Amino acid sequence: MNPLELDDYQHIVFFTGAGLSAEAGIPTYRGAGGTWAKYDYRAYACQRAFDGDPAKVWDFHDERRLRMASAEPAAAHRMIAAAQATHPSVAIITQNIDGLHQRAGAHHVIELHGSIWRVRCRCPGAPQVNLEAPIAERLCPTCGVWRRPDIVWFEDPLQPAPIQQGIDAIAACDLLISIGTSGVVYPAAELPRAAAQRGARCIEINPEPTAVSEWYDTHLRTGASDALRSLLPDLATGGTTPG
Ligand code: OAD
Repeated sequence: MNPLELDDYQHIVFFTGAGLSAEAGIPTYRGAGGTWAKYDYRAYACQRAFDGDPAKVWDFHDERRLRMASAEPAAAHRMIAAAQATHPSVAIITQNIDGLHQRAGAHHVIELHGSIWRVRCRCPGAPQVNLEAPIAERLCPTCGVWRRPDIVWFEDPLQPAPIQQGIDAIAACDLLISIGTSGVVYPAAELPRAAAQRGARCIEINPEPTAVSEWYDTHLRTGASDALRSLLPDLATGGTTPG
């Protein structure tokens, strides 16, 4: 496909999932080698599991933190940040919890599923903590009980602010570039349909067809960084190394 001219669009949304961070060495959730192929989410990624054995759930997330902390943003993360730097109307909506968009230089990232770099407690008045080190102090300093990673687990509702920001960004967009999501987790998976129905140009970057491919008018069946290099060659400052 021909390169895109971002100047032709008023409101651009990048919508990202685990396939983007796969290029930084972080496993996806589904498919071969995916996190949920290896670990049962019912034992590691839901409130019930946490209530039953918080230390085990924390160990799992601390291991993920260490892995994410040692990852470097991929070329695609850097190109998305560069697109935002040159086109301030660019919105970034991510399902990823790893903070790699921000580490690549992006800002105002809408984190639909939270961030592994924050923890929270259900007690009133507990401070929300932004972690800089990989290992958290696990007990709440206000109430003394276990606080939890500030991410969305299975059966959790999404936090209202980010999903509303995502809906608003999609409602305004005339170009949606979706990268590396299987489109099976709702309500995030609704967003491309909403963009398509409002007449936005919708581009899906994913080596595989997905559950929501039908909503996209263009499909780039290759990895995130290679696809963005061909789509946005002016932003491709990351060279030709993989990822
Ligand atoms: P998935 O693991 O479900 O899907 C990853 C997608 O990335 C797949 O469709 C792959 O084909 C694609 N992919 C793999 N390598 C790629 C590459 N190099 N470039 C582009 N795409 C590539 O991840 P998500 O759709 O992000 O939720 O998962 C959605 C949510 O399910 C996650 O946020 C997480 C998980 O349970 C929570 O933790 C709440």
